[in-house]
Amino acid sequence: MANDAMTVRLYTNIRLEFDDGAGVALLTLNRPKALNALNGELLRELEEALDDVASRPGVRALILTGAGAKAFAAGADIAEMQGFTPAQAEAFAALGQRVFNRLEALPIAVIAAVNGFALGGGCELAMACDIILASASAVFGQPEVKLGVIPGFGGSQRLTRLVGRQRAREICFTGRSVKADEALRIGLVAEVVEGEVVEAAKKLAESIAKNGPRAVALCKRAINDGADLAMDPALSHERSLFGLCFATADQREGMSAFLERRKPDFTGR
Ligand code: CAA
Repeated sequence: MANDAMTVRLYTNIRLEFDDGAGVALLTLNRPKALNALNGELLRELEEALDDVASRPGVRALILTGAGAKAFAAGADIAEMQGFTPAQAEAFAALGQRVFNRLEALPIAVIAAVNGFALGGGCELAMACDIILASASAVFGQPEVKLGVIPGFGGSQRLTRLVGRQRAREICFTGRSVKADEALRIGLVAEVVEGEVVEAAKKLAESIAKNGPRAVALCKRAINDGADLAMDPALSHERSLFGLCFATADQREGMSAFLERRKPDFTGR
């Protein structure tokens, strides 16, 4: 993303870059010495960074990745959790769940570029993104039971919704590793990328960023909200969101541009 329109914001454990020209933000978890393990400070910074992304005009897609060659994120920080009381553990899970829910609800496309280990909280973070791209060396898993605990940042629920109950049980009960090719086969990731996964994520983000931003946001709502509803209410929700599209300038511009045989100039209004 090296161009004139790039802005960088550094947190202690996160690096956030805005490529304003492309309308794409890149958020890098930046604790490589601890394989980007998610501690309380990092989670709070992630929440702040998401506010930054949401409030910056013109951002149409967000990519999440991990610094270093080894990990996206190797889970919640075990050293921090070790001495937790039950109440502290519940509060920590509530923090992680709140931040991941915020990520999932962001009204732009969010792509996880998984470049290595995505274990425990790291796998849960990837699953809160809209689309997961994995490098060939990516490794997923929910190994919490090996530590005597269970997933706490939404893994028992999001993994189940992605791969089905039986496969989720098998993965969570064994705590085993799931390599990239298997993750693709079971629907945990959208694509395994040969070569640089962040570059592939940028291409995908840029192609999404060309589309009507309001439409992408409403489509995300239709898919995410509908996944937890029965078919009839889900279809009802879809048609009301479809109706809402017709209150936007982007709908008028998109359809006019098609009929006038030109490229649309979407404004996100
Ligand atoms: N928390 C804290 N530190 C971690 C960490 C984690 N989850 N994962 C790795 N690290 C640290 C290691 O302690 C080590 O630090 P030092 O160099 O200071 O000793 C450093 O990162 C490098 O790790 P390793 O030496 O272990 O690297 P490796 O290549 O030998 O192994 C690994 C890599 C297989 C990913 C291994 O690090 C590992 O198994 N990590 C833990 C994975 C895990 O269990 N994650 C789930 C956590 S629980 C959770 O996430 C709960 C929840 O749902 C909310």
